Amino acid sequence: MTDVDVNGNSGMSEMNEMNGNSGQLNGKATGFGKVIKPGATIGILGGGQLGRMLTLAGRNMGYRFVTLDPTEDSPCGQVADEQIVAGYDHVISARKLAEQAEVITYEFENVDAQVTELLMKEAYVPQGSQLLYTTQHRIREKKAIEAAGAPVAPYEEITSAAQLREVVERFGTPCVLKTATGGYDGKGQWVIRSLDETQEAFDTLIKSGAELVLEQFIHFDKELSVIAARSPGGEVKAFPAAENIHVNNILHLSIVPARIPASVQKEAEELAVRIASSMGVIGLLAVELFLTPDGQLYVNELAPRPHNSGHYTMESCRTSQFEQHIRAICNLPLGSTELMTPVVMVNLLGQHVDPLLELLDQPGFEDEELGVSAKIHLYGKHEAKHNRKMGHVNLLASDTARALTWIERSAIWESK
Ligand SMILES: Nc1ncnc2c1ncn2[C@@H]1O[C@H](COP(=O)(O)OP(=O)(O)O)[C@@H](O)[C@H]1O
Ligand SMILES: [Mg+2]
Repeated sequence: MTDVDVNGNSGMSEMNEMNGNSGQLNGKATGFGKVIKPGATIGILGGGQLGRMLTLAGRNMGYRFVTLDPTEDSPCGQVADEQIVAGYDHVISARKLAEQAEVITYEFENVDAQVTELLMKEAYVPQGSQLLYTTQHRIREKKAIEAAGAPVAPYEEITSAAQLREVVERFGTPCVLKTATGGYDGKGQWVIRSLDETQEAFDTLIKSGAELVLEQFIHFDKELSVIAARSPGGEVKAFPAAENIHVNNILHLSIVPARIPASVQKEAEELAVRIASSMGVIGLLAVELFLTPDGQLYVNELAPRPHNSGHYTMESCRTSQFEQHIRAICNLPLGSTELMTPVVMVNLLGQHVDPLLELLDQPGFEDEELGVSAKIHLYGKHEAKHNRKMGHVNLLASDTARALTWIERSAIWESK
């Protein structure tokens, strides 16, 4: 893993030099990194739904896209100009991606270290490798959050079952044991509810080969997220905080405006801006937070990419998270993040697709009485497996309660 300093502007221009790309092609070298203008080709590592929605937003602006993904006809491949069909760790294919694209981004954070190194050397990756390196690992990530002056739940690195027991005794139960790398949608985690479970929890999670971290359990009232974008010149903008509801550890709803005091919304947004600035992020940074009943915010984790909880921005904000990411990595001015209408985003998992399609031509779909507009997004995945993210619906309404009523009346999400 090459460590490239992307903290601040000097780091940025240094990186351009390293990449040997200054002023080439469509890239206009400036004091703050180069500008990639529409017409240029953007390469995306990963062909999932995040890549697809990035591509759709960028195509509107006139960019061209090439994606690399092992699955043929991937969600992103379907809408990109080209898909290179290969594994994410296939170095030769990553080189091909680098050759074809003027700028490269990624839609997941677990990018192979060798591929990262190659791309940093042979391509222009404005997000840099440091951001990936930090957010790939929970302990490094927590240290970066703390360095930004933002609070995290008390945590400790765990190296043996005996030490785990000792830390659990100190933290008290419940607490959460997590793998430091590779977890998602609640995978790679164990909520320890009593001291008797420590051995089993340790034995189970250590099998993954990853390092482990124990966190104190935060008895939160709400889960929130804020997505911030930062451009090479240091401009930072945050989207309105979303209130997130998970079912079976998978995001179910994002409710915006979040049903929390305006002062807490502001504080959450400020935390995201502070973290993005402190880490010298370029592109998007999603910040997941816990809000406790006494009004305290803790940062849970980060994602250096578009985030499921930011899909609500697509029709409800002046600029979507996807357009904002393109603007940031291409060094265009960031767009306004103003919320134009209350919105609830609801995820469509495999089991929800058929019921939604059945409802489409029913009178309740465009519900005039509720005044709700339902905007459907399907990702073009071939197999609607149980709990697989297949799409989402953004429900625009004069208030979020009406959007929530629409969801309840539709009865689509009764099948968990
Ligand atoms: N320290 C904690 N205290 C309370 N709940 C937690 C804690 N850590 C995680 N959780 C719960 O588990 C969910 C998934 O954990 P997270 O760290 O966000 O991992 P993932 O990568 O799977 O999203 C969180 O959204 C939250 O509901
Ligand atoms: Mg999470």
